Amino acid sequence: MPNSHIPVITIDGPTASGKGTVAARVADRLGYHLLDSGALYRLTALSAIRAGVALDDEHAVAKLGAELPATFSNGDIFLAGEEVGAAIRAEEVGNSASKIAAFPAVRQALYGLQLGFRKAPGLVADGRDMGTVIFPNARLKVFLTASVEARAERRYKQLIGKGISANMEGLLADLQARDERDTHRSVAPLVPAEGAYILDTSDMTVDEAVEQVLHWNALL
Ligand code: DC
Repeated sequence: MPNSHIPVITIDGPTASGKGTVAARVADRLGYHLLDSGALYRLTALSAIRAGVALDDEHAVAKLGAELPATFSNGDIFLAGEEVGAAIRAEEVGNSASKIAAFPAVRQALYGLQLGFRKAPGLVADGRDMGTVIFPNARLKVFLTASVEARAERRYKQLIGKGISANMEGLLADLQARDERDTHRSVAPLVPAEGAYILDTSDMTVDEAVEQVLHWNALL
């Protein structure tokens, strides 16, 4: 592959583990590009919801993924020219993304798009299968996790901070259901990649997690 020499750091982990924030900060510090692969599944889910395509229609959803009119610019995400950063963060879209992500055809449809993010000087990629499937030859692989309680609390604070009402028990149940689906699906399940460094951030600040990843990277 022509770009296989370009360094990649993969940061995989369960939902609300903080991997998105950590990945963005690490990319910023290193001057690397960022791939938020969850956003691609969320964009595909949002496209399906908006087009009235049934979420269980694997091939129709995969077609939308393959033709995703998405653009990324300075942290903003556009779908057919419309800024949808906030829209794709909605819980409904996240849960729908988790459902369609179980379909092999959908994962295949988004494969090439993800590889295209590997550009000089380097890439930080966050998701579920960055180290196992998409970039198995990454320079550094991190599996970032936190207890389900810590994650529910972080999500709760995030939603309340945005003025969105939230219920702790409901969030905990949603996270457990999402973990269950992401971990037990037959294609690209959420598991630490071979050789991945495990980072449990339950009792860590974002700064500490970022420093730890940068430290591992500097050792390589
Ligand atoms: O990271 P996130 O919460 O934005 O991801 C939304 C959903 O997309 C997640 O529940 C599972 C799926 N996903 C995936 O299957 N593989 C990835 N690499 C990224 C996300």
